[in-house]
Amino acid sequence: MKAILLLTSGGDAPGMNAEIRAIVRTAVQNGLKVYGVRRGYKGLIENDMYEMDLRSVSDIINRGGTILYSARCKEFETEEGQRKAVESCIARGVDGIVTIGGDGTFRGAMDLVNMAAKMDVNLACIGVPGTIDNDIACSDYTVGFDTTLNTVVDLVDRIRDTCESHDRCAVVEVMGRNAGYLALYGGIAIGATCILIPEKEFDLNRDVVDRINRFRKTGKEHFIVMVAEGCIPKLEEMGINGVEGLARYIEHETRVIDENGKEIKAGVESRHAVLGHCQRGGYASAKDRIVGSQMGNKAVHLLLEGATKRVVAMQHEKVVDLDMEEAVNMKKSIDLDLYDLALEISI
Ligand code: F6P
Repeated sequence: MKAILLLTSGGDAPGMNAEIRAIVRTAVQNGLKVYGVRRGYKGLIENDMYEMDLRSVSDIINRGGTILYSARCKEFETEEGQRKAVESCIARGVDGIVTIGGDGTFRGAMDLVNMAAKMDVNLACIGVPGTIDNDIACSDYTVGFDTTLNTVVDLVDRIRDTCESHDRCAVVEVMGRNAGYLALYGGIAIGATCILIPEKEFDLNRDVVDRINRFRKTGKEHFIVMVAEGCIPKLEEMGINGVEGLARYIEHETRVIDENGKEIKAGVESRHAVLGHCQRGGYASAKDRIVGSQMGNKAVHLLLEGATKRVVAMQHEKVVDLDMEEAVNMKKSIDLDLYDLALEISI
């Protein structure tokens, strides 16, 4: 192994810079040349990269985002695109690549290595988890999740203050793609009355309206409903227009009506918020800096040992590595005991 490439792909995540720093410094300390590719596989196809040294990664350990930028690239899904990417590797005399991102990024790495093999080029690859969604099946943890979770908690705490002052219900949409980790963990941490995640079937009357009505009778006047973005399609199938529609639904369905059909108590006034990309930015937490450093360091040592098509992962608090093909085909299951816990105590 003489030279390696490094890229970040898919959605950025706080802690990716700590991973980049660890990879570059470990590689340089072990006599490897390192090229940083700008904008993921798109940059690889366009041969857009630069040589990095110990100082190229100074003062980045704290920063959110990725200094290498990121992109989603359709062209790389084609054979033609992959061929061009391998040619960029040949041009730089590279024999290993580290890709930081999620499952899609790892699939891209395998496509690249397989195309290289077809072209008789030796190229090893290692994948490193970096996504706020925590949805990589082989790893208990993905870099970016902790920072984002804390940001979600901070933002929803602010929403709670105003919700409480006005006796309102806040319906909050959080990111996570098809996974409910941010909504579930965030929901527990802020004491949400209701949590909707894609991994758990839900019924709006049972899991939202009835809960609010029940707790309203105990004197509770403000409520937070956490909704994972992965539940939005299901809400839409029910004729509810996302979190905005759900807020209107709650307001309507929580009205108290007497036997003559007369409204005797208004429904809970409700507002909605989509936290959006403010969840994804900001200074990386200590955990993301530390795990990012561990994972980046491990990735380079794997390449130095001659490994290929491995994914670095966290299992039972230890940094390990697994076969990439197996890793991307694994299914992650969320701990539904946590969901039951939330239902029992967030009342
Ligand atoms: O995968 C990270 C993530 O932030 C998801 O939670 C979200 O669904 C998606 O990326 C948003 O992607 P984009 O920034 O391209 O809109």
